Amino acid sequence: MNLDQLLAGLDAASVSPEQPRQQRLYRLLKEAIVDGRLAGGARLPSSRQLAADAGMARNTVLYAYQQLLAEGFLLADRRGTQVASLPQLGRAGIAGAADEMGGVGLSRRAAGLHRRADEPLLPFAPGVGDLNAFPWSSWARHLRKAWGEVSARQLAYAEAGGEPLLLRALADDLRARRGVDCTPEQVFVVAGAQMALDACARLLADAGDTVWLENPGYTAVRSVMLAAGLQSLPVPVDGQGMAPGEELWKSHPPRLIYLTPSHQYPLGAVLSLERRLEFLGRLAGSGWIIEDDYDSEFCHASPGRRPLPAIQGLQSDAPVVYVGTFSKLLYPGLRIAYMVVPRWIARRFGEGIAGLYRGGQAVEQRALARFIENGGLTRHLRAMAPIYRRRQALLRQALQANFGAAVDILGGEAGLHLTLRLPQGPCDREIVRRAAGLGVTARALSDYGVAGPGQPVENGLVLGYGMADEKLIPELVGRLARATLDAVQHPPAQ
Ligand SMILES: Cc1ncc(COP(=O)(O)O)c(C=O)c1O
Repeated sequence: MNLDQLLAGLDAASVSPEQPRQQRLYRLLKEAIVDGRLAGGARLPSSRQLAADAGMARNTVLYAYQQLLAEGFLLADRRGTQVASLPQLGRAGIAGAADEMGGVGLSRRAAGLHRRADEPLLPFAPGVGDLNAFPWSSWARHLRKAWGEVSARQLAYAEAGGEPLLLRALADDLRARRGVDCTPEQVFVVAGAQMALDACARLLADAGDTVWLENPGYTAVRSVMLAAGLQSLPVPVDGQGMAPGEELWKSHPPRLIYLTPSHQYPLGAVLSLERRLEFLGRLAGSGWIIEDDYDSEFCHASPGRRPLPAIQGLQSDAPVVYVGTFSKLLYPGLRIAYMVVPRWIARRFGEGIAGLYRGGQAVEQRALARFIENGGLTRHLRAMAPIYRRRQALLRQALQANFGAAVDILGGEAGLHLTLRLPQGPCDREIVRRAAGLGVTARALSDYGVAGPGQPVENGLVLGYGMADEKLIPELVGRLARATLDAVQHPPAQ
């Protein structure tokens, strides 16, 4: 290739105009050598000559030449500078052409992953607690103390499976608060519930095994199972939680059943005791329950009605992995969650965890252990529970006032969200789009569902109240109602 032609591209927008010229020249020459446009053995003009011909500073050329010489793309001899003879990659091999590279993109599994939309953290974004109410000063004190305790050794990889201090604190807390039957040896700490689900998929099932998922259900779990190569089977949910028909047990027996039994996500049902026992009984010896207790810390059941304890505690050593997270109770960015596995598999499960993931966050884990032991967590929980209960009641009232008293509002026994069912309403994604324009975040219920034969996806809105300012709730729900009306009156062109 003619060098003049190549250099004509030096100031083209496609050559990263934000980079200094010397780097652009370096990249231009390197790419031309790699893809063969500058053939091995070709002589390059002297740096002085090229600078004069191309109207650039000699230092610019010197920089590019020296860098390419150092990296082996150019060779210097008595006669000057020449292109090294190297194996050529052709045009497709250079960076930036990946989209056109046919087979070498993302895996088929990756292509099927649920794409998480970036949604603004406005009221009613589901899944977040009140980050403004986070106990900053007490948390900061525990963090400082933990930093004071660790030595350089603890800055290396942390203990896989979690800091012993935290495992002990969690085992005590879960036994007392959720009826989880465990010792610290059964507890494993990982970076978020999503990672816990990933560990279950990889350590408790093999590629091709069947996993039953609630439908509608938590979208991230679908992605995790898909990426682990499992066959997901969407199972309908009714007022008592996951409701598999008799036929399903025979036709698609599960290796894993993923459940959110305390507060089905997103419809809010509490899995009945009958179903809990039925799942345990029917699975005996053939598969696992993954019990995602993601938001049951905040129980809003009527006074005197205690929340159902965890499935894990129903039968000693049952094949249940109990999963919990600090994302709702403290903050999602903390990325600390935990799993409790049966005694008889704990050692091998621990080896699996150590083989898959490196441990970290030793300091945060120590701080959290102290925060739990000193009662900070319980105090925070006690302070927030009535606030969330009030917010939920206000949201419910405002929804009834704006959408009609008979509107179908689901959930609310626990957690931080309500689900508004709109079977006859306009498309929920349209409402969400218009509500965003009015400064309100809501999530479309249809995003959580998978359509199947005789199983259309449900239409509605999933509304988190964790971050909602109580004074503003009526006004914000009014905006949501306006967005809904607007979607009815001005449907999008088909
Ligand atoms: C059902 C369910 N499980 C778990 C989580 C939390 O996951 P993580 O600990 O990865 O933040 C969420 C978060 O929204 C959730 O909705």
